Amino acid sequence: MKNRIAKTGAALGVLTLLVGGVAACGSSSGSRTATSSAAGSSAAAGFDPKDSFIGIAMPERSSDNWIISGEKMKTDLEAKGYTVNLQYSDGTNGTQTQINNLQTMINNPKLKVLIVAAVDGEKLNQVLSDAASKGVKVIAYDRLINNTEAIDYYVTYDNKKVGELQGQSLLDGLEAQKPGGPWNVELFAGSPDDNNAKFFWDGAMSKLQPMIDSGKIVVPSKQTTFNQVATPGWSAETAQRRMTTLLGFYTSAQLDGVLAPNDKVSRGIQAAIGTTFPTFPVVTGQDAEADSVKLIMQGKQYSTIYKSAFDQAERTVMMVDSLAAGETPEVNDTTSYNNKIKNVDTYLLTPKVVTKENAAEVFANDEKLLAVVNGG
Ligand code: BGC
Repeated sequence: MKNRIAKTGAALGVLTLLVGGVAACGSSSGSRTATSSAAGSSAAAGFDPKDSFIGIAMPERSSDNWIISGEKMKTDLEAKGYTVNLQYSDGTNGTQTQINNLQTMINNPKLKVLIVAAVDGEKLNQVLSDAASKGVKVIAYDRLINNTEAIDYYVTYDNKKVGELQGQSLLDGLEAQKPGGPWNVELFAGSPDDNNAKFFWDGAMSKLQPMIDSGKIVVPSKQTTFNQVATPGWSAETAQRRMTTLLGFYTSAQLDGVLAPNDKVSRGIQAAIGTTFPTFPVVTGQDAEADSVKLIMQGKQYSTIYKSAFDQAERTVMMVDSLAAGETPEVNDTTSYNNKIKNVDTYLLTPKVVTKENAAEVFANDEKLLAVVNGG
């Protein structure tokens, strides 16, 4: 058993032992239990899974991982007896749709936990305060929710690390393709309303900015700030349009590489590039979507970042189980993610970079993606 007794006091420890029958043990490395300093995240009395309602609010269906993880959490929780409502908020007015979805969930008197991957991490303050006032625990899924006290836990891949891996893999690909440089590169970032996008960007730029400063990387468009290169809504079409415009800077030069923040945006960029250059530029990605893994195996997209939706969903279900048992969910980071009100108790998972060379190894336990690697 992985849960630990909270430092919040003997009473809680006794409760943990009584309710969950769990011994405090140092099972998984690097993890520790939340302390009492994290307001709102101490263990409550617990609840009966069979007499409870869990709401899962996902942002959109257009990236595979939201579908895989949403369905896995629903299936796994239902198998344990919880009643689950899974909602997506696709469409142009995604934020309002998500607020409406959450409000409907909160109206259910049996609601115990909300799992929320925010469309816009700045806009859920009011609706989540309503949830908190009814004693509902809130787990932010993948994207941090800002400016609210009413979030208890956060389960995510290490977002800064994702960016660092993207930046480093772009450099590795460039070095392999055109040893020594200098390299002409264009930069893309994710959606400004997604709290993760800035983390990815900062991580990637920690690798790329020194190269830009030294002149080893040249950005002919001179578009190098987050606001200049962001892609609202993570839209592949918007990215394709911007890349098409950027090609105007390359009428007599080779584009060597593009920083792409995720696979969807990457495919938009690749579509715009088409056959413009004799050598296809090094283009990054994120999410290990099957369509992009195919492109990687074909030698077109250079890299992606694997963030197993299964592992992330499993970890979140474990948190719900802990809350039901009246225990404090295990977290392994209490300092990295501040939502402008407090440091949020976080369980960080480790992302992995994927290229053609290591794809089979990275996807060894992922049947579907392994099949893609093997030509399926
Ligand atoms: C997720 C990425 C995803 C993007 C667009 C981000 O918050 O972390 O995995 O590609 O949203 O859906």
